[in-house]
Amino acid sequence: TRVAVVFGGRSSEHPVSCVSAGSILANLDAERFEIVPIGITREGGWVLGTSDASQLAIRGTEFPSVTDGKSLVLSGRNVVSLERGAEVGVLSSVDVVFPVLHGAFGEDGTIQGLLELADIPYVGPGVLASASAMDKATAKKLLAAEGLPVGTYVELSRRATTLTEEQRDKLGLPVFVKPSRAGSSIGISKVTDWSQLDAAIELARQTDPKVLVEAAVVGREVECGVLEFPDGRVEASLPAEIRVLSEEAEAWYDFETKYVGEDAELDIPAKLDDEIIERVRATALRAFEALDCQGLARVDFFVGADGELTINEVNTMPGFTTTSAYPKMWAVTGVDYPTLLTTLVETAIA
Ligand code: DAL
Ligand code: MG
Repeated sequence: TRVAVVFGGRSSEHPVSCVSAGSILANLDAERFEIVPIGITREGGWVLGTSDASQLAIRGTEFPSVTDGKSLVLSGRNVVSLERGAEVGVLSSVDVVFPVLHGAFGEDGTIQGLLELADIPYVGPGVLASASAMDKATAKKLLAAEGLPVGTYVELSRRATTLTEEQRDKLGLPVFVKPSRAGSSIGISKVTDWSQLDAAIELARQTDPKVLVEAAVVGREVECGVLEFPDGRVEASLPAEIRVLSEEAEAWYDFETKYVGEDAELDIPAKLDDEIIERVRATALRAFEALDCQGLARVDFFVGADGELTINEVNTMPGFTTTSAYPKMWAVTGVDYPTLLTTLVETAIA
């Protein structure tokens, strides 16, 4: 089975995608699959991987990126170098695509649409599920329509400039200002004083003209992995709790904390009552269904002091870096990393 691992891409999460792909390339079963690495540059150029590899590891806090004409090698077992000149046509020679793309132009239904057009199976949800999960405002509406718990928020369309007094009263402080379509906390600000609001909206708009202002949910941050098996079974992993360890009062799970610093710890399984754990898993499965997902998703929650759940968001191509929760949750649940990847690929072609 020839598997194209596609990574990089035009989104602000380009570097995270490269790191996710690095882990995936290192853990995909090379005896079982013939792996074709394909990078997409930030400009949208496609770069083909070759098997004559030399070494280039991810260094310290420096993220790799795909650049046209230069070679890039990701560390790990299946080391690859990339050379310019991949045509989209190379896709017609593979059996399945693993689009390890986070954010816009990849996790949002765009590459899924391309692959549907070309009739090539791929890992993960289809066009509509990918697009609607990517757009946090749309996802909240769809989840709420199924009776699933979402937080209080205000959607600022591209024409709305700021919040009205009434909206501020409804949300209260602090709020999180987010681009509607983004990930890895890029473009997100925590606003603790309304004087910071306009700058936060402007920052979010650099990523997406559609902006979301969310009331901060008081609660523990818990994530749950959902995985579809080749026989059609869909299961939820044991959940993880993210604990941000920073001494700073206003610290939150931002980009730095997610990938670079050492200020976050994952408890897997989350130290919650069994009843809450089961409710998290059941709700994650309902969210997966509500958005009509396939293959995989990671559903992110807040758990209130009384055990009340709020769904923060659904990620259809969650991070696969070495610090990412999705593969770790499955490992603790009994599906190790290589088996997880094999499952994802086999489900896509089942
Ligand atoms: N958007 C990042 C990759 C995540 O959800 O893990
Ligand atoms: Mg996300």
